[in-house]
Amino acid sequence: MSRHLITSALPYINGIKHLGNMVGSMLPADVYSRYLRQRGHDVLYICATDEHGTPAELAAKEAGLSVAEFCAQAHDTQKAIYDGFQLAFDYFGRSSSQQNVEITQHFARKLAENGFIEERAIRQVFSVADDRFLPDRYIVGTCPHCGYDKARGDQCENCTRVLDPTDLLEARSAISGSSDLEVRETRHLFLLQSKLQGEVEEWIDRVGGEWPQLASSIARKWLTEGLHDRAITRDLEWGVPVPADTWPELAAEGKVFYVWFDAPIEYIGATKEWADLDPANRDWKSWWYEPEGAADVRYTEFMGKDNVPFHTVMFPATELGVREPWKKVDYVKAFNWLNYYGGKFSTSQRRGVFTHDALEILPADYWRYFMMANAPESDDTSFTWEHFTATVNKDLADTLGNFVNRVLSFSRKRFGDDVPAGAEAGPAEVKLGEEIAGLLAEYEGHMEALQFRKAAASLRALWSAGNSYLEEKAPWLEIKTDPEAAALTLRTAMNLIHLYSVVSEPFIPSSAKAMRAAFALEGDTASWVTPEQARSLDAVPAGTAFTVPPVLFAKITDEDLETYRERFGGADAA
Ligand code: MF3
Ligand code: ZN
Repeated sequence: MSRHLITSALPYINGIKHLGNMVGSMLPADVYSRYLRQRGHDVLYICATDEHGTPAELAAKEAGLSVAEFCAQAHDTQKAIYDGFQLAFDYFGRSSSQQNVEITQHFARKLAENGFIEERAIRQVFSVADDRFLPDRYIVGTCPHCGYDKARGDQCENCTRVLDPTDLLEARSAISGSSDLEVRETRHLFLLQSKLQGEVEEWIDRVGGEWPQLASSIARKWLTEGLHDRAITRDLEWGVPVPADTWPELAAEGKVFYVWFDAPIEYIGATKEWADLDPANRDWKSWWYEPEGAADVRYTEFMGKDNVPFHTVMFPATELGVREPWKKVDYVKAFNWLNYYGGKFSTSQRRGVFTHDALEILPADYWRYFMMANAPESDDTSFTWEHFTATVNKDLADTLGNFVNRVLSFSRKRFGDDVPAGAEAGPAEVKLGEEIAGLLAEYEGHMEALQFRKAAASLRALWSAGNSYLEEKAPWLEIKTDPEAAALTLRTAMNLIHLYSVVSEPFIPSSAKAMRAAFALEGDTASWVTPEQARSLDAVPAGTAFTVPPVLFAKITDEDLETYRERFGGADAA
């Protein structure tokens, strides 16, 4: 047994996330956590809402709420959706928590003590009408690169270039729309990342070798371009305050830390929130502080590719500069984009499928399986309703669901409510056992390697093997001439169903549970089945009572497909 710390990129508090957000962070982290727990490891899966920064303030303003009230509500809304997706976090926290405030301030003090933070005067856009500075998204204007007229102060959504508020043409305030803007001098804290470049490089040389190409190549690119010193404070109402004991003047001016400074620290903050909840929870420092046990923890992070620089370079630079032995990431699992009909999912344009709508249409398992089977691991992939429908109907409804239903219904009809005994296993069962053991070993290998598409393919192959066996033995024919042979086939197939119920759980937890519950099997508590155990296909003995569960997966009809395309916009929306 080993200890695994798992985090997925913290979803921003503003707005409900779309499937593209989910597939690159929380969902694969959940699948992996579930798998490791089933294998008997000690797992802590932590996530939280990322609540600071201009997006939160602007969304609160639009909703007519105080930022605190807005964040509290939006946190609960997001949490309810993730519960609906069966994301089994050990804890889902909030970056605005007191714990995060304390740890973030501690990090900042240490960085200053060690000479990695410096106060600098910079020129910032000030809105006379609003009587305030306009950082990041508080200012909009025309992108100097592509001419897009709704570019924000931090980034142009059209050409994705990172911007500085002073770059914008025809700039105006996002609060009042006023273009009565001045450039004024103001003081901010800068993180001297340039001084940490060498150490970050050394660290990546040491640990980055086994990361997937996508993560290591982005990290290398940033390091090659050189680490720049970055402003880590902002003139905002809402955020982690600059500690007054260290920077009395800046604190008096109401400066807060930049959202990207405190957000990754919330991985630690949320762990402390979790530990503070219940004395039975293990000490948070044993997960994060190397001398207190964290040296033996394996830490895996999940994120979309836009988040990679922050997690592979900037957050590690912060941790290194603190000069305390905080746990750093061991493995970075990064994802490309899931597109919608070849174009981008877009929160601001509400284009694509959003998580609350998805759950309203179909249960979580349908989405979980589809997304993981098509996870954008090596390339961007596309969501289309046609592909989704075909996958659900073929893999889930036919290959798995129909198999389960056919086997159990037929056996009940012919042999009653208990698993029949039938003949001794013959060559067909031995061959099936070999095949199953091989596929299961493959599945385990892909899961250990965090290769989710391949893992889903192995799982699907396990389900298919059952179908082929059934077709080959054809118990509906055997029953006419040799009922003992038919009973053997059905008992073997029921053992497959039980095996599926155990090993499919990371991907489709609710359906897995329903399959397992079909058997009134005493002492059925094993959390995993090894290939060796699976080979004999005898975990469910003759005489075990069973029930036929309701249809596991309903087919998506042509009419459904048409409705979805109309509601969400299909190919023409690209
Ligand atoms: N909120 C960011 C995003 O949605 C991710 C933050 S990840 C963390 O892109 F590092 F801050 F935790
Ligand atoms: Zn642009």
